[in-house]
Amino acid sequence: MTRSDDTFPADPWQLLGAWLPSNDDPARPLMTLATAADGVPDARTLLLSEFDEHGFYFHTDTRSRKVRQLAADGRVALMLHFPDKARQLTVQGVAEPAPADELRRAFRARSPYLQQLAWQNTIEFAGLPLADRLAAWSAFKDDHADGFGQPLTWTGYLVRPSRLTFWVGNPDTASRRTEYTRTPEGWAVNLLAG
Ligand SMILES: Cc1cc2nc3c(=O)[nH]c(=O)nc-3n(C[C@H](O)[C@H](O)[C@H](O)COP(=O)(O)O)c2cc1C
Repeated sequence: MTRSDDTFPADPWQLLGAWLPSNDDPARPLMTLATAADGVPDARTLLLSEFDEHGFYFHTDTRSRKVRQLAADGRVALMLHFPDKARQLTVQGVAEPAPADELRRAFRARSPYLQQLAWQNTIEFAGLPLADRLAAWSAFKDDHADGFGQPLTWTGYLVRPSRLTFWVGNPDTASRRTEYTRTPEGWAVNLLAG
């Protein structure tokens, strides 16, 4: 959807294809993942690793708080903000464990820094003084000069959306949203105030 385009597709995936970078673009979008296990809201910034015809994928550490929360309640919201395009995407859905081949692909696609972070991002590491953290980081690189695979703590989730809201701003008129809600018959589309 562009500012001069008043039409919107019946299938939200057509808009996602236009709004999100392709999966092989190394510049991954940032998103907020909101959880609500036991009715307690929580949120954090994550990379959107991939999206496909099923939904949105993110990756994290099995020992993280969000993993415990998702085990208790998989219902989530995602927020993606694209300030230079005056766009915002809100997603509500359910997170489920991502398949093993997707986990491998996503790890390989991470930058060398983020691959190493997946190994060293522990409470024990965080508790070290800076000089020790720098030394341990450097030693890991030296010890793994031939490369390394994904740690057992690497995990990921697929968020299957039930509702997507595309917000479009326009400095010359009011912002507005196009809301897609999943129904047994397909996607219901509504226009909402911004
Ligand atoms: C720009 C940015 C990108 C981040 N990307 C990720 C990510 O892709 N995966 C991840 O587990 N944490 C990522 N983090 C760290 C999370 O925001 C969060 O601190 C961490 O995952 C622990 O969250 P939790 O305690 O809610 O589980 C990112 C943080 C920032 C600021």
